[in-house]
Amino acid sequence: MTHEQYSLLTTRELAAKYGTSIGEMEKQFQPEELVPLNAATNGVTPQGIRRFLEASGVSYRFRVIAHSTMRGGIGKTTATISTAVRAAQYGFKTCVLDLDPQGSSSMALGAVPDDDDPIFYDIWQRPEELLAEALVQLSSHLSILPSSLENALLDASLLNPGSQKKAVRGVCDQLRLLGFDTVIVDCPPSLGIAVISAICAAQTIVIPVGSDAFSLKGLDLTLSEINSICDTFGLPHPAVRILYTRHDQRETVSRNALSKLTERYPNLPLAIIRTSSEFSKVLAAGETIFTRYAKNSAREDYDRHVSELLEIVRQPE
Ligand SMILES: Nc1ncnc2c1ncn2[C@@H]1O[C@H](COP(=O)(O)OP(=O)(O)OP(=O)(O)O)[C@@H](O)[C@H]1O
Ligand SMILES: [Mg+2]
Repeated sequence: MTHEQYSLLTTRELAAKYGTSIGEMEKQFQPEELVPLNAATNGVTPQGIRRFLEASGVSYRFRVIAHSTMRGGIGKTTATISTAVRAAQYGFKTCVLDLDPQGSSSMALGAVPDDDDPIFYDIWQRPEELLAEALVQLSSHLSILPSSLENALLDASLLNPGSQKKAVRGVCDQLRLLGFDTVIVDCPPSLGIAVISAICAAQTIVIPVGSDAFSLKGLDLTLSEINSICDTFGLPHPAVRILYTRHDQRETVSRNALSKLTERYPNLPLAIIRTSSEFSKVLAAGETIFTRYAKNSAREDYDRHVSELLEIVRQPE
């Protein structure tokens, strides 16, 4: 199976999303936009869903979305790969920009670079010449600029504030010229220079938060750093969204952290991802929650988050 075949949005999901029957949903597509998957449902090609959504007012304008927080292990990579795979399924021409020297997104998407394969560190100074060759295409609508340990050297080489402001932006501008409309950035769990550069490039920053005190502290620090970076560089402030991950309604600590968050940041958009064993299962199998067809909370929650993030709301007819 190619990545493309197991990575399609289904007419069953679309029917549930728009409150209609699978049969009615399938009438919206041309025969060449439907791919038989199993007895219950067909897949829809990214081209097909894009035609359908564009006709209903969804915008495929260029966006850079970064995942960042100082707190480690809280869901940046999970959010990056889930969002990117789903965005591609919805017909967005998506590129994952892996800036984390741990290369977790690259690993999860099966794109670990060889020693001599170029990564961000090698190409940021001349993206117009070097970027296209460095990208790994995973499917028609999904590519990745993989990462490896050498990206840790960025902190030493991006010393000049002008370079910090431009490095990630320059690469994103080139991705746009190459035809991408969505760039999803995975940042390391720090406030190193690569993260500062990503913050300068992003229109939206998604900050994953868990129920522990460190994660709330991580949120506060990340928010104040975003403000001071944008003020220092004279840049407009990005939109910020909180992604509350691993929520468990049965756990007092999880419910309390959620109410604390909504009290403290009543104006920040918040998406909730419930805790699910599905994430570790799919990771172990080299897949993502959207490259398997099982119905589960992980898939539902991320679909809701991605739909809000990318404004995939079909206008009423
Ligand atoms: N909603 C969830 N329910 C259960 N497990 C989850 C959920 N979200 C993420 N995880 C798991 O939590 C672990 C850490 O997630 P992830 O690697 O995405 O965090 P990270 O912020 O990228 O970490 P790092 O700071 O090391 O880069 C992974 O094993 C992932 O499968
Ligand atoms: Mg990570």
